[in-house]
Amino acid sequence: MASTEGKPITCKAMVARGPKQPLVAETITVGPPKAGEVRVKVITNALCHTDIYTLDGHDPEGLFPCILGHEAGCIVESVGEGVTSVKPGDHVIPCCECNVHAYFMTAIASSFLLQILTSSCVCPRHCLFKSSLLLGFILAFCFQTPLSGQGFMPDGTSRFTDQDGKPIFHFMGCSTMSEYTVLAEISCAKISKELALEKACLFGCGVSTGLGAVWNTCKVEVDSSVAVFGLGAVGLAVIQGAKMAGASRIIAVDINPEKFATAIELGATDCVDSSKLDKPVQQHIVEMTTWGVDYTFDCTGITSVMRAALECSHRGWGVSCVIGVAASGHEISTRPFQLVTGRTWKGTAFGGFKSRRDVPKLVQRCIDGKLPVDHFITHKFDGVENTNAAIDALHGGKCLRAVVKY
Ligand SMILES: NC(=O)c1ccc[n+]([C@@H]2O[C@H](COP(=O)([O-])OP(=O)(O)OC[C@H]3O[C@@H](n4cnc5c(N)ncnc54)[C@H](O)[C@@H]3O)[C@@H](O)[C@H]2O)c1
Ligand SMILES: [Zn+2]
Repeated sequence: MASTEGKPITCKAMVARGPKQPLVAETITVGPPKAGEVRVKVITNALCHTDIYTLDGHDPEGLFPCILGHEAGCIVESVGEGVTSVKPGDHVIPCCECNVHAYFMTAIASSFLLQILTSSCVCPRHCLFKSSLLLGFILAFCFQTPLSGQGFMPDGTSRFTDQDGKPIFHFMGCSTMSEYTVLAEISCAKISKELALEKACLFGCGVSTGLGAVWNTCKVEVDSSVAVFGLGAVGLAVIQGAKMAGASRIIAVDINPEKFATAIELGATDCVDSSKLDKPVQQHIVEMTTWGVDYTFDCTGITSVMRAALECSHRGWGVSCVIGVAASGHEISTRPFQLVTGRTWKGTAFGGFKSRRDVPKLVQRCIDGKLPVDHFITHKFDGVENTNAAIDALHGGKCLRAVVKY
């Protein structure tokens, strides 16, 4: 690895040339890391729905050509000037947040630029807020936001060039659908080498988000009741997290009954196929529970489901958490009386975890056998060029996470 230090690397990547088009396998050049940056070899990449959301053209700010991918396991190849927290050979998970809060964070990030640049993302005070700002800063430059320098590294340039010498945009500060990518140092969560990167990559987004929504955002207590709408990897992680938190009743809701077996294995006590009901699902759940459930989670990104989740949370104290990312332009609604009578509506990005501090801990819990994640890997592929096959699998309805080994 040392021989490539300071030099451009030529490698394979899947380039998103435009929305609603299959990714194109291309040979690209990845420039060396600049000050404060880290170049990594991507070993495994697990697809997340946010990649597909952008690829399918649902993100109005989507910039093309770009290299998607943000749920990955990587090994540091070389580091730029001033980088001290990771070194070549370290295993890292790129830290990102799904784009759910990008606009908000971008808007406030610029006014706190100095604070962000001088704060570490493990600051103890207002930690989540500051961490969000930090991520907002990264997203502002590396993702697709209204600020100048969009889709680039923090210095406003790209590390990727195609065979015609033209730049390719970065995505979410990660761009892991490439054999090599460049990350900001503050986007690298250094993890133990004991956990295979095939599993560790899952902690980069969806699984951590589901667990964190339960543990951090809602702080689900022992003996509480929970309803989870949408049983993809995120919803199943919510179930797993709720079971670990001691919830006594966990209602799993989906329109695809094939999802119920895994939900039950992970701790669901009731399963509801909402497509088969002759009444609104919220009414059904209120009747099942008399007054509703303590905590509900939307893991679908569908605004009518978000409404149903709120309206079957318990009168007086129910909390409903939006995790799903809705299609551009969609809005949520309910009768205000639902809130007047004591329900709380909230949302979460990356489950409220601070990636650099918390992802290594989640990985360690997995190594210790206290947080199994094998059940999320339903499909495996070899070679970066098989990323399109992984996308097809994800669209197929039976896939939780498709991990591509590069
Ligand atoms: N907030 C965050 O930080 C964050 C992080 C990761 C993912 N996400 C979002 O979370 C959502 C879930 O991600 P995923 O990877 O688990 O997706 P997924 O597509 O694998 O799972 C969605 C599930 O919802 C089910 N579903 C569809 N319509 C439904 C309905 N009307 N009622 C009940 N269930 C229904 C589907 O059958 C599927 O099982 C996505 O919107 C994703 O973008 C958010
Ligand atoms: Zn994601």
